[in-house]
Amino acid sequence: MTSNRYEISNEIYIDNLLTENDIPSLVKYLNNPTIYANTSHIPQPYTIKDGENFLSAIKSNLEPTLFFNIRLNETDEMIGGCGLQSLIKNDRIAEIGYWLGEPYWGRVFMSKVIGKVIEIGQIQWKNLVRIEAQIFTWNNGSRRVVEKCHFAYEGLLRKRVHKNGQDIDVYLYAYIIE
Ligand SMILES: CC(C)(COP(=O)(O)OP(=O)(O)OC[C@H]1O[C@@H](n2cnc3c(N)ncnc32)[C@H](O)[C@@H]1OP(=O)(O)O)[C@@H](O)C(=O)NCCC(=O)NCCS
Repeated sequence: MTSNRYEISNEIYIDNLLTENDIPSLVKYLNNPTIYANTSHIPQPYTIKDGENFLSAIKSNLEPTLFFNIRLNETDEMIGGCGLQSLIKNDRIAEIGYWLGEPYWGRVFMSKVIGKVIEIGQIQWKNLVRIEAQIFTWNNGSRRVVEKCHFAYEGLLRKRVHKNGQDIDVYLYAYIIE
């Protein structure tokens, strides 16, 4: 697969080629209690095997997904991820998911990345009209990020996620493509 690279800022870019060389970064950054607490599908502890499973899932592309690695310009190290997953057959509606390694929080990286991923999603999925974000109610940082990216708050989904034996309420946000 060829890699598409998209510039984001002087510090970071995104691309769509995840390789075995990225597994140490996945393990390094995803072994993080805050990332675990705020996401639905990332295992904890995050092992090399989890990284390998994720890599094969991305490679087999069974799910209709656009996934991007966030990388440092200086070293090409992967420091985060952001992806769109199509929720229905004709790619009309997608859900966005994202995480960033803790040392890089608060540098406006994710808001810039999400803006770019929405732009790419619109080009690649011609029918795309709606991008949803589901955010755990306590995750103020993530709410602020999507609000900054012009997602609108649509409501509270009660007990939407089941994780660790707990039913968790989430806020639903959506970005509408006119
Ligand atoms: C949420 C996350 C992606 C934010 O990434 P980031 O690059 O630090 O976000 P940005 O720097 O682009 O921040 C954008 C805005 O959100 C605010 N913000 C970011 N994190 C915040 C926090 N923890 N609390 C309050 N505000 C926060 C910033 O101050 C900024 O607002 P401003 O421009 O008005 O000052 C990152 O903290 C993360 O990966 N968290 C763990 C995983 C996660 O929550 N994923 C999302 C699941 S829905």
